[in-house]
Amino acid sequence: MRLLSVLSAVSVTAGLGYAETLKPQTLLQDIVTFDNSSLFINGERLMIFSGEVHPFRLPVPSLWLDIFQKVKALGLNTPVNKAADAEASGGGFPGWLQRIKGHLRTADPEFLSATDNYIANIDKLIAKYQITNGGPIILYQPENEYTGAAAGIKFPDPDYMQYVIDQARDAGIVLPMMSNDASWKGGHNLPCSGKGEVDIYGHDGYPLGFDCKNPTTWPLGGLITQYRTQHLNFSASTPYTVPEFQGGSFDPWGGYGFDQCGQLINHEQVRVFYKNMFASGVTIFNLYMIFGGTNWGNLGHPGGYTSYDYAAAIAEDRTVSREKYSELKLEASFLKVSPGYLTATPDISNKTGVYSPNIDITVTSLVNYTPKGGSFYVVRHTDYQTLASTPYTLSLPTSAGNLSIPILGSSLTLGRRDSKVHVTDYPVGDHKLIYSTAEIFTWQKFSDRTVLVVYGGEGETHELAIADVFKWKSTGPPVQVKTVKKDARKSFTAVQWKTNSERRIFKAGNLHIYLLDRNSAYNYWAPQIADTSSSLIVNGGYLIRSASINGASLSLQADFNTTTTLELIGVPRGVSKLQINGETTKYRIDSEGNYIVKISYKVPTLFLPDLSKAKWSYIDSLPEIQPDYDDSAWPSANLKSTNNTYVGPLKTPASLYASDYGFHTGALLFRGHFTATGAETKLYISTIGGSAFGSSVWLNNSFVGSWRGSGAASVHNDTYNLPSPLVAGENYVFTMLVDNMGLDEDWTVGDDTMKRPRGILDYSLFTSTNISVPKSDITWKLTGNLGGEQYRDKARGPLNEGGLYVERQGYHLPSPPASASSSSSIPFTGISQPGVAFYTTSFPLSLPSSEYDIPLSFVLDNPTSFESGTEYRAWLYVNGFQYGRYVSHIGPQTSFPVPEGILNYNGENWVGVVVWATGKKGAKVPGLKLEAGTPVRTGRKEVEVVDGGGWERRTGAY
Ligand SMILES: *[C@@H]1O[C@H](CO)[C@@H](O)[C@H](O)[C@H]1NC(C)=O
Ligand SMILES: *[C@@H]1O[C@H](CO)[C@@H](O)[C@H](O)[C@H]1NC(C)=O
Ligand SMILES: *[C@@H]1O[C@H](CO)[C@@H](O)[C@H](O)[C@H]1NC(C)=O
Ligand SMILES: *[C@@H]1O[C@H](CO)[C@@H](O)[C@H](O)[C@H]1NC(C)=O
Repeated sequence: MRLLSVLSAVSVTAGLGYAETLKPQTLLQDIVTFDNSSLFINGERLMIFSGEVHPFRLPVPSLWLDIFQKVKALGLNTPVNKAADAEASGGGFPGWLQRIKGHLRTADPEFLSATDNYIANIDKLIAKYQITNGGPIILYQPENEYTGAAAGIKFPDPDYMQYVIDQARDAGIVLPMMSNDASWKGGHNLPCSGKGEVDIYGHDGYPLGFDCKNPTTWPLGGLITQYRTQHLNFSASTPYTVPEFQGGSFDPWGGYGFDQCGQLINHEQVRVFYKNMFASGVTIFNLYMIFGGTNWGNLGHPGGYTSYDYAAAIAEDRTVSREKYSELKLEASFLKVSPGYLTATPDISNKTGVYSPNIDITVTSLVNYTPKGGSFYVVRHTDYQTLASTPYTLSLPTSAGNLSIPILGSSLTLGRRDSKVHVTDYPVGDHKLIYSTAEIFTWQKFSDRTVLVVYGGEGETHELAIADVFKWKSTGPPVQVKTVKKDARKSFTAVQWKTNSERRIFKAGNLHIYLLDRNSAYNYWAPQIADTSSSLIVNGGYLIRSASINGASLSLQADFNTTTTLELIGVPRGVSKLQINGETTKYRIDSEGNYIVKISYKVPTLFLPDLSKAKWSYIDSLPEIQPDYDDSAWPSANLKSTNNTYVGPLKTPASLYASDYGFHTGALLFRGHFTATGAETKLYISTIGGSAFGSSVWLNNSFVGSWRGSGAASVHNDTYNLPSPLVAGENYVFTMLVDNMGLDEDWTVGDDTMKRPRGILDYSLFTSTNISVPKSDITWKLTGNLGGEQYRDKARGPLNEGGLYVERQGYHLPSPPASASSSSSIPFTGISQPGVAFYTTSFPLSLPSSEYDIPLSFVLDNPTSFESGTEYRAWLYVNGFQYGRYVSHIGPQTSFPVPEGILNYNGENWVGVVVWATGKKGAKVPGLKLEAGTPVRTGRKEVEVVDGGGWERRTGAY
């Protein structure tokens, strides 16, 4: 299977046979080239229609092909990968960048030299997989959203951008460089602008925004119709490129959940907004995200929670049941068979009232002046916010003259939140449509006939006209036909019908047109036959992954979620054997010559463990507050200064910023030792952990207080009364637990938000009369994950574990030693006071996973409100992978999908749950279940279990 690939900041895309507007002399290779309309790859003009996938958000390499097949089945041809930004912790920057003084993403030599090693190595690898070396990588994006800067920062800085381009060039990247300006402002690093210029200019667009609270509201002015004009102003000589366009929405802690975001960014958004981009002539077009995945193992930034579903077309659990997946398939499959789109010229003038007399409708044209290209007319509501269904007629120039459509009377309809692409003089193999108001899904020229599949909304009137006059036949409900005889070049056969769920096939000579309603069209696929340029058309199935022909045998890889019938249209002559997912399958051939296949689907019986009845072990994960606890092995917080001035000068005698000590991920613990004067009664403490973080503090083994966290708050100041009078001359210790929700991204150049520290910003001890005790009287130690930057878990990587006792010991990994467990308490009774409890259990699974793809999720019971004082924060570990973070009173996520491969579907599995009770009453998990979604009979290859290793005694663990 061949999908191209784009890496972004570090991001990548492809193509050319030189056209005149190109500057081939500046390209370093001749495989990926471009003109002002599109890319060329090996001289072939093509659209790059891609979806963004971050493989690191699905840590099961054997499932990546499953995602790529689901992307390709849509009709897309490229995925984009990003190594930076992407709502990852620190925006993908390593935490140690907090320790350099230099401004990030600027020409500051300290920053640049900090990037040299990584870029040299990663780009060497990328260079190896460039298309020029036979790999899939076609474009390279050296920065991302280099669009705005903090006051006092040189911006845009051509020296900086040239440096990052040169880094890539020096490592052997020869592909064109592209950019991705944030949409609100643009024009940076334009081609031909000199130092720091890219080859292909691009910008992103999130026109519907991220307000998942109001998922049915399309905001005023949301549909941007000026993109083409902007493109011509900025970069008329390059293809119109949008490296990120809204494929979904992020959702923050305390947000509304991805189901609701999916109502905002749904199939209607895909219809109206993507077609608006086609009206603007976009030919390099990437959807952010096509599959979001999971922020497992602390890899997300604090602006999001564990799920990175993104309400994308492919859901976090890899299912493809969202309507937008099907809608996107209709659009991408159409463009795939419409090469004329790439050479058509978008008209940026105001066309309201020109192609339709109804000014409530705006029709934008992309007229093709090349022979046999076809022209495209994109119809939308003039007022894009309207919910009206609007009747309209068209007046279109065609090779048969100016036509008022429909010519058979009646009128067309544009439904609420709809947009359509009508075509004229559109080539369909050896035939030509003079026009069609029904939208095209695909067409394929087979040896004996050409099949065109068109669709319209249910109940709509549609009309198309085929060049020439034919003897025709039609099956299904009646159609109205009118033949217009003019001179030979202008004669045509017009067909009108009212769409319903019953299929019609209209046959004009060997052109067979399948007239469908949209819901039926959703069931169609056009899989390319491997190693050929032809495709089949398949009606039915949950997913058609691929098709191949070997001698007389046709093989399909396909998934089914119900008993169904498959119809294979255009099976090549000579095929006498059908294999589906490797099994020889019976078929019959119907009167249309289509292969009809009965697929049976049985719901498999799944035995899932009842976690409420499981045998759990309990480990106290806060031994630090016990009187005999020894922290002598902990690192001392002994840095009297920091390079990190993000929040201003240090307020504490020594830095208490975790990244100054190499701790960049997960929970942090601080130990503050002091000798009491006897007068201390209050502790003021300012902690910082990122959105929704929490903190708790104990004095010796007495609970002092907690900040339970709230959605957006990333810093919290509190003054706590100490539990009891202190005794002069006695030694005391504070134990502080501070959550790190991930490091902030670094969006605005040079403002260094990525350096926003994690840990303790300030503290004071006060007497009852508010007299402050000198700060240096407390000496601090701290810890995060065991080993900090010398992290222990090389399999799961540097971010997966934080500083909790059980994590430092590795007890979250499979098979922790029984001796670590102090009782058999269970998460459902929990603990009765503030603290940190760890519960672990194991269970075998035996699931029919070679035949079925079975989505599993851990689901926490979600009482509508928590009794005040019983809030908790939880971490979920599955076979050692942290696959869930939960904050009971903030939410919104309660269901945590875990992919097969992390779960061993045929073997033993270990699950761990940390419960951090922040309130005085302690906490319990009201309920935890392992639940299955619909098992899909699957053609994906078998999943390899990711063996991250189990518990081993860790030397030096404390
Ligand atoms: C099967 O897949 C279709 C298409 O994606 C979807 O509409 C339907 O809800 C699925 N059925 C089940 C039982 O999941
Ligand atoms: C476009 O043209 C229509 C019809 O002439 C007019 O009503 C409308 O105001 C124009 N729109 C813009 C943005 O100029
Ligand atoms: C601050 O940066 C300098 C290099 O500029 C480095 O030598 C020093 O170790 C850094 N200090 C800290 C506390 O990280
Ligand atoms: C915490 O206190 C500091 C110092 O007084 C102040 O600047 C900051 O705004 C406070 N933060 C919050 C979240 O209250």
